[in-house]
Amino acid sequence: MIKNQLIFSAVAVLAAIILSACSGEPATVGPTPTIDPQSDAGIGRTLFQAQCSTCHSTEEGVQLVGPTLAHIASHAGERVSGLGAEDYLHDSIVRPNDFTVPGFAEGTMRQDFGQTLTSDEVNQLVTYLMTLK
Ligand code: HEC
Repeated sequence: MIKNQLIFSAVAVLAAIILSACSGEPATVGPTPTIDPQSDAGIGRTLFQAQCSTCHSTEEGVQLVGPTLAHIASHAGERVSGLGAEDYLHDSIVRPNDFTVPGFAEGTMRQDFGQTLTSDEVNQLVTYLMTLK
């Protein structure tokens, strides 16, 4: 009898484990990583939505006033020879005319982010943009 009860509990425990594994949150799929809103990337994303998203989408093929920043982390390092991705992104924000993306007019991007954003905010924006692989 005791043995039967033990087997029953073992089966119940197993069933509970299997059930909980199946009913968990669905795994994140697709290219959008989950970003903690309190992290640098999360703060950067909030800044981006407030300051940049009128001109830049982060979706492939969606061009607003400026180029889409979809996958920018993957090609930012190829824009200016000798400049790594993070340095290029940093420069693009605070000195937008150092390099003008082909097909866009110089001076269209807002020019005053170097003055209106703190250096922490610029770094948080860069951290966010580096998640757009
Ligand atoms: C008034 C519209 C406008 C706003 C606002 C704006 N941008 Fe831009 N941005 C542009 C345009 C136009 C270009 C392309 C011309 C150039 O390179 O200067 C550009 C270029 C860029 C590039 C280079 C992209 C590449 O493919 O190399 C980055 C990075 C960038 N912007 C980031 C930002 C960030 C971050 C913000 C917010 C803090 C922002 N932009 C706000 C219009 C804008």
